[in-house]
Amino acid sequence: MYCKKIEVENFRNIERAEVEFSEGVNILAGANAQGKTNLLEAIFYPSMGRSFRGAKTTEMIRFGEKQAEISLFYRDRKRDQRIDVRVYREKLRQVEKNGNRVDKLSDIVGSFRAVLFHPEHLSLIKSSPQERRSYLDMAIGRIRPLYIHALQKYNHILKQRNALLRNAVTDRRAFDATIELWSEQLSVAAAELSVMRYEYILRARRFIGESFSEMTGEREIPKVTYAGSSGQKESEYADKEKTRKKYFELLMSAHDREIAVGATLWGIHKDDLTIDLNGHRARIYGSQGQQRSLALAMKLAEGEICREEYGDYPVFLLDDVLSELDSERREYLLHRIRGKQVILTGCDPDLMKGEDEVRRILVQNGTYSEIG
Ligand SMILES: Nc1ncnc2c1ncn2[C@@H]1O[C@H](COP(=O)(O)OP(=O)(O)O)[C@@H](O)[C@H]1O
Ligand SMILES: [Mg+2]
Repeated sequence: MYCKKIEVENFRNIERAEVEFSEGVNILAGANAQGKTNLLEAIFYPSMGRSFRGAKTTEMIRFGEKQAEISLFYRDRKRDQRIDVRVYREKLRQVEKNGNRVDKLSDIVGSFRAVLFHPEHLSLIKSSPQERRSYLDMAIGRIRPLYIHALQKYNHILKQRNALLRNAVTDRRAFDATIELWSEQLSVAAAELSVMRYEYILRARRFIGESFSEMTGEREIPKVTYAGSSGQKESEYADKEKTRKKYFELLMSAHDREIAVGATLWGIHKDDLTIDLNGHRARIYGSQGQQRSLALAMKLAEGEICREEYGDYPVFLLDDVLSELDSERREYLLHRIRGKQVILTGCDPDLMKGEDEVRRILVQNGTYSEIG
């Protein structure tokens, strides 16, 4: 799969741009605050239906404008494809795939597939569980569009249950009447998502191990484990029904405590991954270099699983990542993504000098021009 062209209008600092990409390495070079990340954000948006920066749609519309437009042209399984997105300040966005209106997000997620690397991903091992959960959500969503749907449903139920817990003090009656129902629904949704997270990790584990040892040549063996909040052993998450029962039991076990904190204490919003090296927590005992290699390996696994699932690699989007890596890890990353389409940003115009077949695009104040 590769991205042939993007047309953007009134997106961030880009008034209007049309940028073509080569099938190999594309470098967006330019000084700070010129629109390098903005363009990557526009390319990524159609792939997951959201900003990788976590921005609200209105933040992406150019200051003073009412709407922003993205048209992405890509090639998938020997066919030309196109996704059009229009976002508005005042109304819901519109998405079209090949000219047909798409209403559900899960109908375009997985169509244009991109894996995004951000410098913050390099601290995936040390960062908060929340970051690791978003890593999982992005990675699984790409190969299981229905996961996104299930996650939205879960979050909706969770919100209702949390509201019920917060209002319990003033309205105990409503609480007693409905808590069992909400707990039941939440446990069903949690079990469904848990299984998918568990299966994804099981699949990613091998790739992570391979990349890590190739990259470091170390004999230490990494192991990434799905750590759900139900207290079950990892392998027990394979059994959806058992997991549902367990969640339900927990969600009915400590209402007073949940009311006191005003939040649901169990569920996939509490999940984490444990990442070990030779049996020791990498977050605590790993060197900084090991942690970064592990994080890189986890990101590369996304590309491998995507290939396993769809038969080809996704587009790799690298936002300021190369400059953050030491030469060994940089070499390794470049070696791994060779032959795939890569769109990367950097300040250094001489980045990857000497490599042929690199398309260089100079970014200046929201404009993009190819450098010969
Ligand atoms: N909604 C917006 N409208 C207009 N300009 C914006 C908007 N959002 C961000 N910008 C501008 O985009 C610039 C940052 O672009 P960015 O792509 O992040 O820079 P870089 O080239 O360093 O990656 C800043 O000057 C910022 O003011
Ligand atoms: Mg940037």
